[in-house]
Amino acid sequence: MGKNVYIENISKYIGKEVEIRGWLYNRRSSGSIIFLLIRDGTGIIQCIVSKNDVKPEIFKSAQNVTQESSLIIKGKIRKEERAIGGYELFTNNIKILQIVSDYPITPKSHGVGFLMKNRHLWLRSKRQHAILRIRAEVIKASRDYLDNNGFINIDAPILTPAACESTSTLFETKYFDQMAYLSQSGQLYNEATIMSFGKVYCYGPTFRAEKSKTRRHLMEFWMIEPEMAYFDWEDNMKLQEDYVTYIVQTVLNKRKSELHVLNRDLSKLENIKPPFPKISYDKAIDLLRKKGKDIGWGEDFGGDEETIISESFDKPVFIHHYPMQCKAFYMKPDPERPEVSLSNDLIAPEGYGEIIGGGQRVDDIKLLKKKIKEHNLPMDAFKWYLDLRKYGTVPHSGFGLGIERIVAWMCKLKHIRETIPFPRLLYRIYP
Ligand code: 4AD
Ligand code: MG
Repeated sequence: MGKNVYIENISKYIGKEVEIRGWLYNRRSSGSIIFLLIRDGTGIIQCIVSKNDVKPEIFKSAQNVTQESSLIIKGKIRKEERAIGGYELFTNNIKILQIVSDYPITPKSHGVGFLMKNRHLWLRSKRQHAILRIRAEVIKASRDYLDNNGFINIDAPILTPAACESTSTLFETKYFDQMAYLSQSGQLYNEATIMSFGKVYCYGPTFRAEKSKTRRHLMEFWMIEPEMAYFDWEDNMKLQEDYVTYIVQTVLNKRKSELHVLNRDLSKLENIKPPFPKISYDKAIDLLRKKGKDIGWGEDFGGDEETIISESFDKPVFIHHYPMQCKAFYMKPDPERPEVSLSNDLIAPEGYGEIIGGGQRVDDIKLLKKKIKEHNLPMDAFKWYLDLRKYGTVPHSGFGLGIERIVAWMCKLKHIRETIPFPRLLYRIYP
């Protein structure tokens, strides 16, 4: 009996008999030898089946096995520089669990609509596999950074009684005899938990009924949101810079082979180190006008503006002090210039747009009440939130990083839909 091993650990088994459990990725033959490429979720290995060395029925199995058939294969491991992954398995036994016929996704190219309909199968392909491994590494690096820097993970509810961002993007659902909304952000709850824990983060799914069909928007995405008591807007940006650098450098170290599968230019990512450029909204407007964009002061930036701005920098760029009207009700105005807020976005390079939104929060109860009224939000629903300004209020700040946005940039993907296992897009909720 061979020992069941995963392909990622195969280097420890040179000269030993092992058992690999997986699926057929590809097959080719040359005379009396059949080459089976087997994948097991952790890697791909080439298995040699030689007519002279195995029983006739085993050779026959190898001849019949088709793409995505499930099988268990046994044999000895040998180092082979020229083989994919650097090792080969000399097969002595094959057990086929299922022979697959008509697997829909073949090595020829398919249209996006077809692939999206077959997303449950598309996930097995090499590119999709690489992207989702990188996604997992981004999430792990995010959490590791925060866990190692004094943050406590305190999650926020998904079913909420009120809007956090914009009432126009709420998904409603019945909550017994009341209405509830799917969370747009855990921020407001973070602002409660920092008063108990100092520095917190929440991580979870976020829902926005964005009636826009862009390459950057999902209806359901995952956001990690740190929030810090006694941090002002500048402390907040410093943290974002350090945190994004850690994520990029960690993924670069640990997921090089996946980045290679995607043909990613690694030098672009190696360059991501502090300091990141910082420009005010006013300066960003000047820059846009210089580049021929006709934009008035006070207008929010969309994908086009962000792309133009990012073209001037080879690192993520902070844009700070957005006009109050561009931001949500909780954003603190600059005491010296109340028409602008102590907010910042972080814009990724290479045209990937906003990856982070954040800022310093209103900490004065009178001003907060005024803002809630101005934004036509229901005062009753925010009674608990106002309490936080009544019982030990402090300056505080925080931000949200969109996981899919940073993954799209790190992988240099054309569209955000490939960064999440099962994307929820405008009018698409299958599979
Ligand atoms: O800028 P946003 O709306 O900020 C907030 O929700 C704050 N309450 C966060 C905080 O301060 N705690 O969203 C934050 C990030 C964006 O920068 C973007 O990366 C991502 O969430 N994001 C989306 N990603 C994919 N699809 C969408 N529809 C997104 N909307 C926002
Ligand atoms: Mg934003």
